[in-house]
Amino acid sequence: GSARVLVTGGAGYIGSHACRALAEAGLLPIVYDNLVFGHEWAVKWGPLERGDIGDRDRLDAVIRQHRPEAVLHFAAFAYVGESVADPGRYYRNNVAGTLTLLEAMRDNGIPRMVFSSSCATYGIPRSLPITEATPQNPINPYGRSKLMVEQMLADFSRAHGIGWTALRYFNAAGACPQAGLGECHTPETHLIPLVLDAARGLREAVTICGTDYDTEDGTCVRDYVHVGDLAEAHVKALARLAGGGGSGAYNLGTNRGHSVRAVIAAVETATGRKVPVVEGPRREGDPAVLVADATRARTELGWTPRFTELARIIETAAEWHARMHA
Ligand code: UFG
Repeated sequence: GSARVLVTGGAGYIGSHACRALAEAGLLPIVYDNLVFGHEWAVKWGPLERGDIGDRDRLDAVIRQHRPEAVLHFAAFAYVGESVADPGRYYRNNVAGTLTLLEAMRDNGIPRMVFSSSCATYGIPRSLPITEATPQNPINPYGRSKLMVEQMLADFSRAHGIGWTALRYFNAAGACPQAGLGECHTPETHLIPLVLDAARGLREAVTICGTDYDTEDGTCVRDYVHVGDLAEAHVKALARLAGGGGSGAYNLGTNRGHSVRAVIAAVETATGRKVPVVEGPRREGDPAVLVADATRARTELGWTPRFTELARIIETAAEWHARMHA
């Protein structure tokens, strides 16, 4: 049969899109997910094994059954505000859980991991756009948990020869409605789905979190990157590692920034509806601008995002949103 890849968090937003990309590349995704935030309906390209990354016995059983040749590691909690209020939950799941997973890989001889890291590991960047050499100074427990895992990977690599790639996503956005995949978080905190809800009257208004930033229109600027493009990068990262490429980290973004107001305007265009807006205070710990320099992913992974226009990314999100609420 085809090569098997263990995909932790494969029932989640980015993980499910990665499973589709793996299947299209002829690989078999074995989803390992506790379904705390993931969705059973999003698992369509291989088996679903329910389990927790912190459960060593369950991990060993699944690994011995399916004999994966690599791990894509998406499973993590990702609510920044909650990570400030309840850091133990984040260090337990994201850090300790990953440690258990890495030990299981070491002891079962799985040689490679591609890890879901984040631009949140940079904190408030010293310079823009952000390259992989930009110092990592995360400003919340979520970002720190992701950085700690990058550091564990480097140590496990040195000691045990596990090859790794950390992909530092900027703002994952959009959907693949043709594949029946898209964003579906409970609770939802991300800007684009919230704006879509407001456009369709599913919520009263969207609150702009801060209008006094030192940016062109006073609102935060982010680099929104299509989830299908992120998925593609994982397949390329796996191929590079399998071909003997060295370990390392890559930014995944479009090198373009868009303000909160620009996102709202793009949703209005995509839906043909007016979005009710409330101007609110800043959200704690929000950097003014996060924009990627993803040159390294382009040159070393051969990654070329198909979606470079915010309007196109938002159209896919709007189509998915309309379908979900049809
Ligand atoms: N925003 C609003 N109103 C809202 C929600 C968000 O104005 O109701 C603004 C935020 O202040 C921010 C931008 O919209 O400037 C995007 O916010 P998101 O919450 O969608 O995403 P973040 O930029 O906070 O993303 C961060 C990191 C990711 C991390 C993610 C966790 O960039 O790496 O949080 O979900 F994974």
